[in-house]
Formats: sequence, structure tokens, C-alpha cells
Amino acid sequence: MNIDQLTEVAYAMVQPGKGLLAADESNSTIKKRFDDINVENTEENRRDYREFMFRTEPAMSERISGVILYDETIRQKAKDGTSMVDLIKAAGSIPGIKVDAGAKPLQCCPGETITEGLDGLPKRMKEYYELGARFAKWRAVIDIADGIPTWTAVKSNMHALARYAAICQEADIVPIVEPEVLMDGGHDIKRCAEVTEWVLKTLYQELYEMRVVLEGTVLKPNMIVPGKKSPKQASVDEVAERTIQVLERCVPVAVPGIAYLSGGQSDEEATAHLDAMNKIGGFPWHMTFSYGRALQAAPQRAWSGKPENVAAGQAAFNHRARMNGLASTGEWSA
Ligand code: 13P
Repeated sequence: MNIDQLTEVAYAMVQPGKGLLAADESNSTIKKRFDDINVENTEENRRDYREFMFRTEPAMSERISGVILYDETIRQKAKDGTSMVDLIKAAGSIPGIKVDAGAKPLQCCPGETITEGLDGLPKRMKEYYELGARFAKWRAVIDIADGIPTWTAVKSNMHALARYAAICQEADIVPIVEPEVLMDGGHDIKRCAEVTEWVLKTLYQELYEMRVVLEGTVLKPNMIVPGKKSPKQASVDEVAERTIQVLERCVPVAVPGIAYLSGGQSDEEATAHLDAMNKIGGFPWHMTFSYGRALQAAPQRAWSGKPENVAAGQAAFNHRARMNGLASTGEWSA
């Protein structure tokens, strides 16, 4: 294990002014996004869409420190035969790979899931390194509802995340550890804070027990927000303050950075929350974005699968990448 290399990559991923593009939707998830814009979910359309993002300047070289890819994309070539990995590297950005096999029903825990994908992972990790990946992602999903989450779901998901992280580091790949507490329910912001604190405390205990070197990791958490169906929504300042409070209680100073998921927040909300946290400042980590939907919804709509709209899609991507880049240093204004 090359700890210096892992640490260097982790810091590069969360460097000020930049953040991560989560373009690692599985084929079934990208189908949902394409359905919304009436685009057929073919390999060619997936390539054309991702290719135009990876060729967008100045977004890629100035604002996107790394791109999380799906297995198909890391092996894919752009229309002119250049590999997608080389497109990303040419922009000075780092290729990464989603390695989990998705959240599956958790036995004996109705309504809860366990993320699968550990079997054979050391071998796959070696191949991904050869294909150019220098970091990876694994997403654990924790839902909030009556009597949920259970300790069984929290413990088993955080244990799997720690197993994955150790496997990554042995292959000289930086693990993004992503314990996502969903914002789908009707719970209030306090419940989100309470569950996220529980999840993060458990995660860091598991990482310690699995001998993961924290300096070579990046945390990808949810922000502390009320459930979407909660009658009581929260102000931007409250989200920022509560998120910082929970993270300060749970995340060791040795972790280089925190790259939030957007989780269903609107584009502007995701930017405003990140900006508000960085305006408060004073915490020991770099805080940035690792957004999927909040970076891609606008470019997807602008493109809508039409070659003549690629410039409009790229303009939308440039805009969102710039806004989130500014938010990563607390310099954004509405
Ligand atoms: P969202 O920002 O759309 O939540 O996606 C980020 C991600 O990678 C989820 O695993």
C-alpha cells in the first residue's frame, strides 16, 4: 500500500475550488434520467452524453477534480476512438470508479437494504487500477422511517463500507466512503441529524477496526436536511450549521476532505448549502461537492439527446460546475 500516493490523490480530489462529478449512474439509473428527457437508453446515447460532459471546458479543467465512472464508461471510447479515461485525464481530472453492486433487500429487516459487491472485489480493483482509476466509490443506503434504521442495517452497511475501503487501499485506490442517509421520508431535520450521527460514528469505528488509513480516504455524506415530505423545511443556515455540527462530532481530523452528495436537493439548494458551510468555515477538512443530479439535471435538460444541443448542454454544465466550485470556497452568491 502506497500511503503517500493515496494521501496525495485524496487531497487532490478535494482541493479548493474543485469537486467531483458523479457520473456513475448504473444503466438502470441513467434510464430514469433519460426517460425524463425522452432519450432512448442506448450505449451510444450514454456515450454521447458523457463524452460531451468530459469535453466541457473550462468546467473539467477548472472545477472538476475527479469523475466517478460506471463500469461501462471506464471501458468505453469516445466517438473518435479516444478512451473516456484519457479524455478525463487530458483535462487534468482524476478518473474514479463505482464498484458496489447496488443496495439489495436486507434479510430479516423489512424495508432496509445492504449494499453488495464485496465478492471478488480485490481482483476487480486491480483491473480498475490498470484501466486508470485512482479512486473508487461505494454507497451504503440508510433509510429513515418508523423503527428504521435498525442497528442491524447500520452495523452491516458500515462494516461492508469498511471492508470495501480496506480492499481499495491495498490496491492503491482511494476509497470514497458514502453512507447516504436518505431524505425521502417525512422526518424532521433533528431526526436526520440523530441518524447521521449514529451512522458516522459507526462508520469510523468500523474503518478503525478494518485498519483503513484515514488520510487516504474521502467521506461522501448526506447533508443534514429534513425529509422531503416533512411539513417543516429548514433554512439554508440551519442546514449548514447542523451539518457542520454533526460532522465535527464524528469525522476525525485526519480525513482530508468531505465531498457531499446532493441526494435529491435542487441544483440551487445543493450549491447554497455547500456555500453556506464554507462561509462559516473553521472546520479541519476541505468541504466540496460530489454531485450527480445537482450537476447534471440542467445539462441533461438542455441537451435532450439532440446533437445540435450539445453546446447548450455544455453551457449548462459549465455554469453548474462553476457555481459549485465557488461554493466549495464560500465565494458563491445567488
Ligand atoms: P446525487 O448527487 O444525485 O445524490 O448522486 C451522488 C451519488 O454519487 C450517489 O451515489
